[in-house]
Amino acid sequence: MPRVNQICCIGAGYVGGPTCAVIALKCPHIRVTIVDLNQARIDAWNSPDFSLPIYEPGLEDVVRKARGRNLFFSTDVDKGIRDADLIFVSVNTPTKKSGVGAGFAADLNYVELATRRIAATATSSKIVVEKSTVPCRTAESMRTILDANSKPNARFDILSNPEFLAEGTAIDDLFAPDRVLIGSLQTQEGKEACAALSEVYQNWVPKERILTVGLWSSELSKLAANAMLAQRISSINALSAICEATGANIAEVAHSIGQDSRIGPKFLRASVGFGGSCFQKDILNLVYLSESLNLKEVAEYWKQVVTMNEYQKRRFSKRVVDTLFNTITGKRIAVLGFAFKADTGDTRESAAITLIRDFQQERALVNIYDPQVESNQIWADLNEASPDVPLAAIQRQVFICSSALEACKNAEAVIIATEWAEFKTIDWEAVYAGMNKPAFVFDGRLLVDADRLRSIGFKVTVIGRGERL
Ligand code: UDX
Ligand code: ADP
Repeated sequence: MPRVNQICCIGAGYVGGPTCAVIALKCPHIRVTIVDLNQARIDAWNSPDFSLPIYEPGLEDVVRKARGRNLFFSTDVDKGIRDADLIFVSVNTPTKKSGVGAGFAADLNYVELATRRIAATATSSKIVVEKSTVPCRTAESMRTILDANSKPNARFDILSNPEFLAEGTAIDDLFAPDRVLIGSLQTQEGKEACAALSEVYQNWVPKERILTVGLWSSELSKLAANAMLAQRISSINALSAICEATGANIAEVAHSIGQDSRIGPKFLRASVGFGGSCFQKDILNLVYLSESLNLKEVAEYWKQVVTMNEYQKRRFSKRVVDTLFNTITGKRIAVLGFAFKADTGDTRESAAITLIRDFQQERALVNIYDPQVESNQIWADLNEASPDVPLAAIQRQVFICSSALEACKNAEAVIIATEWAEFKTIDWEAVYAGMNKPAFVFDGRLLVDADRLRSIGFKVTVIGRGERL
């Protein structure tokens, strides 16, 4: 069985960075090098004051312990590849924006470029591991590229080892994963490569949590897990619409159904809509796969999960307009939270982007506050969401604030778009004093104590709650 002494991770993003930093921490005998083409990103990973390029609780501590010991960050991709026994491919796989499958299929350009680089550079045999979420059978394409371009003496075994970490809890998820999934070809070499990777994880993960399966099952399991999780949120959000119309309370409904041990209590929090880099992308991937396999009904089934999510966002912004006497033109709206969930600075597919675009179209003035997201990221996202509107025009309508209190000043309404814990403990009396009256709060995350806010004087609207004011 090949032994892993050196690991290279291609891609220093949200997946590759934390995952390989934790591998380095837990395996001091393995040298781990994380490489990326993006110089600024690598510089940030190497920064003397540990201002890392991504915000993730616990990550800095891991990097402080391992960096310079057996964890290295570099832009020298070729050296990383040459030195490694095992290479993780953790590059981005966004949804295609043009061409065949646009809007649905994953853009595998980055995976392909990284794979070609491995083939062109490697002078000895390697285990190549797909870590990025990829469509089913991508490993086969990688094998074809590697086989067709490899140097003599360089043999490649390909494994699928999808990452199940969630942002915000990545370090805990990596320290104690529910399971580690490794897919391989069921050949002797495939099984040996699988055993070599399994040995790496066994440095801290109990053996019974390491599942070894066929390659295609592993690739599909990642898509399936995300699709099922997203489906739960769309289901509870669909029920939240019924609650609002009937006077039922979605928190009570979720609690009641979650007590059934077959359903379970997790992932039943109604919200303004799910975001993140994975859910929508993976479902659209599944839809594309189903369509290409001629499974029209299956494709339609999964597509509905995304349709419901879009509906939830639209429904929420409409409720804001309806409640504010059918117009928000010229009114100041404070949006608290821009990240797609709490404890991350990531904004990919964040519901806040859609809400703010809707408010812009209604010609409201929008104040935004998020504790982690950088201003240039907010401008880039809003610019992309409204391609027909010049950035300068957006910046006349939207303002980025440095505290929740500042964002709420002179506003007519406060929207809670991300469930940051600090929004629970802001000085709501001071917020109320600074707002125009009547002062409205719209809780899109079931976060605040609505009754307490009402006792201060706010008119509170909560997602999945019938009574309006
Ligand atoms: C997800 C998967 O959980 C993870 O296993 C996979 O590796 C990557 O995709 P992530 O996108 O980081 O992780 O975050 P997650 O916690 O799953 O939340 C996704 C979205 O769903 C967020 O916008 C979150 O706010 C929303 N959500 C989650 C709800 O609206 N309600 C819930 O009950 C749970
Ligand atoms: P994820 O959430 O999947 O980790 P990110 O976009 O955060 O996605 O990170 C992917 C990283 O992969 C980016 O920093 C990007 O620069 C890097 N990358 C993409 N293609 C290559 C490549 N061929 N070689 C090295 N790094 C790459």
